[in-house]
Amino acid sequence: MFYEPFQIKGFTVKNRAVLPPMCMYMADDDGIVKDFHITHYATRAIGQMALIIQEATSVTKEGRISLNDLGIWSDDHIAGLKKIADGIKANGGLAGIQINHAGRKSKTKRPLAPSAIPYHDGEAVYEMTIEDIKATVMAFKDAARRADAAGYDVLEIHAAHGYLLFEFMSPLTNKRTDAYGDRLLFLKEVTEGIASVWPKDKVLMIRVSAYEYRDEGLTPDTVSDMINSIKDLGIDMVDVSSGGNVPARIIPYSGYQLGYAKRVKELTGLPVVGGGLITTLDMAEYAIREGLCDFIYFGRLALRDPYFVMNRAKDMNVDLEFPSPYSRGKQ
Ligand SMILES: Cc1cc2nc3c(=O)[nH]c(=O)nc-3n(C[C@H](O)[C@H](O)[C@H](O)COP(=O)(O)O)c2cc1C
Repeated sequence: MFYEPFQIKGFTVKNRAVLPPMCMYMADDDGIVKDFHITHYATRAIGQMALIIQEATSVTKEGRISLNDLGIWSDDHIAGLKKIADGIKANGGLAGIQINHAGRKSKTKRPLAPSAIPYHDGEAVYEMTIEDIKATVMAFKDAARRADAAGYDVLEIHAAHGYLLFEFMSPLTNKRTDAYGDRLLFLKEVTEGIASVWPKDKVLMIRVSAYEYRDEGLTPDTVSDMINSIKDLGIDMVDVSSGGNVPARIIPYSGYQLGYAKRVKELTGLPVVGGGLITTLDMAEYAIREGLCDFIYFGRLALRDPYFVMNRAKDMNVDLEFPSPYSRGKQ
């Protein structure tokens, strides 16, 4: 199963391995793509990971996680981003990008959030005005237009890990008393804006934290309810992660988030990407065969071993075709 393709819209995803978005912190203050990024993503595509999702790429300069994030807040970013997308596609991968606003977790000078509640005590955070919110909805929409122009076929909305979209969704971080106290409204407006410019024949995904590890926080069931309320706007697939919105005690182990993926898959009926500390293809095979998820993301494994999908095929009794320049390495 793991090495079998999956059809989504007009795209045949050649196996179930996904490179999840991982910030490389390698850009300068202008957020422009560097040679490193082009090489990094193309290498994972050469290694036969089927879907490559580029790191959290910031929709505004003020919304960066760090001062070294990639940017998509200006048309000046498109040419560099196109080189990443082209590099992935030229090597047989499906090219995806995650777009993000870091909200209160931004390391820039004026972190914005639904409510002025810092992540760590004493940190500066500014409650967004209605104008800030409207401008940010527009920034996500413009980012989606640029992602399409750069040639990506998959767009992932970052609504996980306690960044801005998730901060609006969670009762722990959204204490607003205006219309945006409806914790779905900002996500809905952002998704509507994106869907109005993102081509219908391309794939639109959302990454969520399906559990906050707090009794009062969001759960796989409440997150699925929220996804169900917006999925008809054009959400094709869900990428399931957890945590990150508030400090919490998390005990990770291999596959620790797969139960959340399964629940979101059941409740939304959408294809799901699951993962978290998965380092063996036996575990990946099990998760897909048992219907816990449809794809597996491999983050840290793919950082240390970009060729694991190629190299481990024979352990799974699969005769995988290597890219022709590497075919002599198959023995
Ligand atoms: C260096 C690094 C950077 C990350 N950056 C992002 C990011 O930009 N967006 C995101 O949604 N998750 C990010 N994550 C989380 C990963 O996408 C993934 O969910 C996490 O590493 C768990 O998968 P793994 O155990 O296979 O590594 C990052 C993780 C790492 C290790």
